[in-house]
Amino acid sequence: MLADRLKTLAPSSTLAVQAKARELRSQGIDVISFGAGEPDFDTPARIKDAALRAMQSGQTKYTEVGGIPELRRAVCTKLKRDNGLDYEPADIIVSCGAKHTLFNLVVALLNPGDEVLVPSPYWVSYPEQVRLIGGVPVPVETDEATGFDLDPERLANAVTPRTKLVVVNSPNNPTGAVFSAGSLEAVARLAVDRGLWVVSDECYEPMSFDVRHVSIASLGVRHDRLACRLRGRPARADPRDDGRAEPGDLESLVHRAVGRGRGAHRASGRSREDGG
Ligand SMILES: Cc1ncc(COP(=O)(O)O)c(C=O)c1O
Repeated sequence: MLADRLKTLAPSSTLAVQAKARELRSQGIDVISFGAGEPDFDTPARIKDAALRAMQSGQTKYTEVGGIPELRRAVCTKLKRDNGLDYEPADIIVSCGAKHTLFNLVVALLNPGDEVLVPSPYWVSYPEQVRLIGGVPVPVETDEATGFDLDPERLANAVTPRTKLVVVNSPNNPTGAVFSAGSLEAVARLAVDRGLWVVSDECYEPMSFDVRHVSIASLGVRHDRLACRLRGRPARADPRDDGRAEPGDLESLVHRAVGRGRGAHRASGRSREDGG
């Protein structure tokens, strides 16, 4: 009855751990959960208040597919301030969380059989999303001895004619590694030399404490094939408080995948063609 592609999906181990922790807590057992990556504090009042004010002032309608212009401009300001990156609001797509963004990216980029290099250990959703649309995830080991830094040589050896993209996740879930500028630069060069896309998931950027996080997009390597995703704050009231910067033509591909309308993101208001 259901689509065959769902048979490839493994159940989410993160959610299973989360459910187990909740069950143990309900039995009065004191549990520290390493399941879903949530802060242990409530969303700050100023964020809740801002969301409430926005709703009360009538911001309850469909937005542009890529997000409201003010938010996209704010993402550009953040990228310039924190990462030294120059992006235009038209380069930014706001979506409902990293998982949604990453899914949009694999839908826009992969054909069945395309291979995706996933440095391992990895966040469990990367391979599942790739498999779901018929791609082939290829785990590439990192070592405890190097603090689980990216291994550019192993990545280079794993490239085949079917390799389409490399997933870079720094700071990393689950290892906590913050990848070194040297290894990121080597991977950026590999991507440019071999014509690969790089998807950079930097959602834990605000949580690097002893080592400074470096965005692969900031390393001076030509980056017109680099999709850089980030999350501004760990505790957000609205899942749409979330942004991703990426280069021109990928941006319009993702918009097409998400919004079903070419150029819909550039419209200043919602039209029937904008989708919904
Ligand atoms: C590395 C990584 N990327 C993305 C996500 C998903 O983020 P979101 O909640 O914004 O969909 C998580 C959540 O655990 C994660 O660990």
